[in-house]
Amino acid sequence: MTRRTRKRIAILISGRGSNMAALIAAAIDPAFPAEIVGVVSNRADARGLEIAKTHNIPIKVISSRDYDGREAHDAAIHEAITGFKAEIVCLAGYMRLLTPDFVKKWKGRMINIHPALLPSFRGLDTHARALASGVRIHGCTVHFVTPEMDEGPIIAQAAVPVLTDDTEETLGERVLKIEHRLYPLALRLVVEGRVRMSDGVAVFSDVEDERRDLAIVSPGERRS
Ligand code: GRF
Repeated sequence: MTRRTRKRIAILISGRGSNMAALIAAAIDPAFPAEIVGVVSNRADARGLEIAKTHNIPIKVISSRDYDGREAHDAAIHEAITGFKAEIVCLAGYMRLLTPDFVKKWKGRMINIHPALLPSFRGLDTHARALASGVRIHGCTVHFVTPEMDEGPIIAQAAVPVLTDDTEETLGERVLKIEHRLYPLALRLVVEGRVRMSDGVAVFSDVEDERRDLAIVSPGERRS
């Protein structure tokens, strides 16, 4: 009997790499339909690189300072991930805007996790902005990447409560925990072709069993 081949995933990071670690942890299970074949960071000091190394995952640092302009930098990243023979790209805290040309090359095959319930709070400082706006529910979103920042078709979302005594840190921690649950679930569906991007929307098939995973509503942790 032939073993089902696992899809090859490259992850782009810039820092801590906790979402990357969650994807690596999910892919350790041989039943997971994908393997992490390489991690690229635009920063040599990204903490996530050490985590990737401990799992023997090939890493590459591609600093924008070594390239003349965004196009050249993104071309180097493209070369690195095609060198890994990656079929799908996961952005996991990758903090640089990608050029339209790069995004086009990975159209429908590149996903991102954003720490807010899109389309609310695109961009940075999402937890502080959520607190300042007074929303009582916050969360995270996994979406296909399109040239416009944080605007691609939504694959899955997870919501957590905003507590009255939350700080940016406590709220951020609560969201991060659920990010680590959501990202592997979303990646699985992309890898299995059960969600794809078509005409600018996410189209789902055979997801009856995962309907609830695509929309996680978490009570958050209880404080004693
Ligand atoms: C996460 O909150 C993610 O949603 C956002 O950047 C942060 C990265 O954290 N895109 P980490 O590097 O995965 O720990």
